[in-house]
This record gives sequence, structure tokens and C-alpha cells, in this order.
Amino acid sequence: MSVKGNGSGAEVHAEGRPLAIKKVVEGLKAKRLGTRFHYFLDLDSTNRYARELADRGAPEGEVVIAESQSRGRGRLGRAWISPPYANLYFSVILRPRLPPLHAPQITLMAAVAVGDAVEAFLSCPAVIKWPNDILVGGKKLAGILAESSGSSTTIEFVILGIGVNVNWPQRLMPDMIRDRATSLLDLRQSSVDREAFFRRLIQDLDRCYGVLEERGFGALAPVWESRFGLRGCKVKVVMTDQVLMGRAQGIDCNGALIVETGGGERRRIIAGDVIPLEE
Ligand code: BTN
Repeated sequence: MSVKGNGSGAEVHAEGRPLAIKKVVEGLKAKRLGTRFHYFLDLDSTNRYARELADRGAPEGEVVIAESQSRGRGRLGRAWISPPYANLYFSVILRPRLPPLHAPQITLMAAVAVGDAVEAFLSCPAVIKWPNDILVGGKKLAGILAESSGSSTTIEFVILGIGVNVNWPQRLMPDMIRDRATSLLDLRQSSVDREAFFRRLIQDLDRCYGVLEERGFGALAPVWESRFGLRGCKVKVVMTDQVLMGRAQGIDCNGALIVETGGGERRRIIAGDVIPLEE
């Protein structure tokens, strides 16, 4: 059964039930993340609320999770549609000991962790679409939004926000995303235990974050590269002030996308939308 008009701009998967945080915490094996869970039925945005906590001094590892968001935020000012009881919308407070130049590595690290968790629940590969999308079968399954605060010399904190379409059937997605999005439910043809998936995701994030801090992004780069779906592909990159075409080569150590635009010129892309082109 589906119900319309929940205020989130999407139909509700009405069979859904609230997440049992107690079940998530039971057996959670994580060193730094998941020290405390702030659980809400509805929030405007978990990233917004987590930032408020971090501004008030909340320590690294605290997690804010909401069943639905009325103003879920995506990259480049887009909205993240967040109907209740079906998916996961959460933000983790991080206080990384990294130079500000390396802040984009948090998104790359999270993409590796989300890919690992997703692949543990699926028999098909997760693909990273630079910088922050996780695709399966060419459709978006999850998005990452890392927002940092600090100065030109230090990162004070990073709010790492993640949205994953878990038990949200494609047939209930709004028209504007239905063709481009997918969910674990649709990919497996069966629903997923949200508590088990969330626990696994927190553990994978904890592990990858530990690797990033202790060994640097170089230690995660091989997995990131293996999931990068666009190496060598012709792409169009749409930035705020220009559009360029070229071949995607990979990323540099600061997380910038390297695109070869012809004549051997290599451009570093810091922010933009990458659209694969037919050859
Ligand atoms: C994107 O793909 O553009 C990023 C989407 C990030 C969505 C998540 S849902 C939890 C957290 N809170 C937000 O407001 N946004 C992120």
C-alpha cells in the first residue's frame, strides 16, 4: 500500500516501520563512529542538525539519523527526497586531523565505505560516479554530502551526510527521479533489514575512516579506482562557469577529477557534474 502527500514530495512505502536503533547498536564493531545516535522521526536535514551539534562541541563519532527529512540537502543546492521508513538518511560528525586541502578525501573515503556496504548486500558491483554518487546498474542508489567547517589552516569538523535508497520501490519514486534512481529492494527483489545494513555501513565507514587517518588516502585509492566507472570514458563536465569535454582519467590525491581535454592538456576539476558521452 502507498500513501501520498507526506510532505516530503514523495509517496510513502507504508509497510515501513521505525528503525530500532537498539538493534543497530547491538553488536556494532566500531572504534570511533557510532558513539551516540540522535534519532528523529522527522528533521529538516540531518546535516543541518549535526552541524548545530558540532558547533556546540559534540565530539567526533556522533550520528544524527532521521526517518524523513523535509529539506534533505543534496550536492550543488539540490534536494534529497526523503520519504519516511524506507531509506537511510544520516550524518556523522567527524573531526579529522587532515589539512583543509585534503577535506575532499572524506567524500572519497565515504564512497569506498558505502560501496563496500552495498556490495555486501548485493551480488552486483557498486560504481562510484565522481565525486559523491554510488550507482548500481547505471542508477543512483546513494549520495554523499560532506560539509566542512574550519579555517584555511585547520578543519574544525566535517559533517558527513549519507542518503541510501534501501526499501523504496522504484514504482513509488517521483517521476523526476524514477528513471535515474534505484534501491536495494529493487536490485535484490526483496527488502533489506535496515538495522543490519545501517550497522554494516557504520562499521565500513569506521574502518575506512581509520585507514584514511592512519595511512592516508593512498591506502584506499586502489579500491576507489577499481569502482570508478568512467576511467578513459568521454565525458562532459558542467561547472558553474563553463562546460568542458574530455576523457576522465581518475582522481589526484586531493580528490580532484582529472580530465584530459585533448592536445595532452589535463584539467583538474574540483566541482561539477560529470556526464558520460556516447562514443
Ligand atoms: C547528493 O547525492 O547530492 C548528496 C545527497 C546527500 C543526502 C544526505 S541524506 C542525509 C544527509 N542530510 C542531508 O540533508 N543530506 C544528506
